[in-house]
Amino acid sequence: MKILVVGATGIIGKEVANLLSRNHEVVRVGHSSGDFQVDLASKASIAGLYSRVGVIDAVVSTAGNANFAPFAQLTDEDYELALVSKLMGQVNLVRLGQDYLKDGGSFTLTSGMMAHSPIPGAVAVSMANGALQSFTRAAAQELDKGHRLNIVSPRFVKETMELMGMDPTSGISAAETAKAYLAAISGTANGETLDVADHL
Ligand SMILES: NC(=O)c1ccc[n+]([C@@H]2O[C@H](COP(=O)([O-])OP(=O)(O)OC[C@H]3O[C@@H](n4cnc5c(N)ncnc54)[C@H](OP(=O)(O)O)[C@@H]3O)[C@@H](O)[C@H]2O)c1
Repeated sequence: MKILVVGATGIIGKEVANLLSRNHEVVRVGHSSGDFQVDLASKASIAGLYSRVGVIDAVVSTAGNANFAPFAQLTDEDYELALVSKLMGQVNLVRLGQDYLKDGGSFTLTSGMMAHSPIPGAVAVSMANGALQSFTRAAAQELDKGHRLNIVSPRFVKETMELMGMDPTSGISAAETAKAYLAAISGTANGETLDVADHL
């Protein structure tokens, strides 16, 4: 399969691309690096990416930005970023990608455990994650051409915790996290949220 991985230069995306590239051709996409670049916050940029890459068998997104900040300090710009980048960026990857995805192909997006287990400071992130999971459940029912749509909900990633100066013991490595993306692509699931902890 030819698989487009948006966010392939990030902590999770790098391991997803590595795992998938064992058996598939992977097109690595980043914001400022990778084989191709895209800005998820721009629909025109996503359209340009698809027109340059052409027909693909699967699309994976491990990208989408949203800020952490205490609820009382969240700004209009923080909400805007979560909506335009993390939420609509991934929604638009699906909307525009349908014309480039082969029959029977799949989309796999990324949310996060903050959708269901928020911590203080995660309001904007939780909002986007919850919306993405509902979008996935609903839109999957209406896709045609045998297309499937699922979303992976990563737990806190060990490498991210280390970068943040936290004890990574309770985290799940990026390489282990990648297995849920492989399961979404190679299985028959449609409209599902895959908890990384169920795919170790
Ligand atoms: N890490 C965790 O513990 C964790 C837990 C739960 C959920 N998540 C979610 O998983 C996703 C990936 O997390 P991560 O930790 O792997 O992130 P990361 O290391 O920061 O990587 C982000 C990736 O997205 C790309 N990117 C950045 N801005 C972009 C934009 N505007 N348009 C398109 N691509 C853009 C980056 O490209 P460049 O390298 O070129 O900048 C990079 O490939 C995020 O949505 C995050 O919320 C992460």
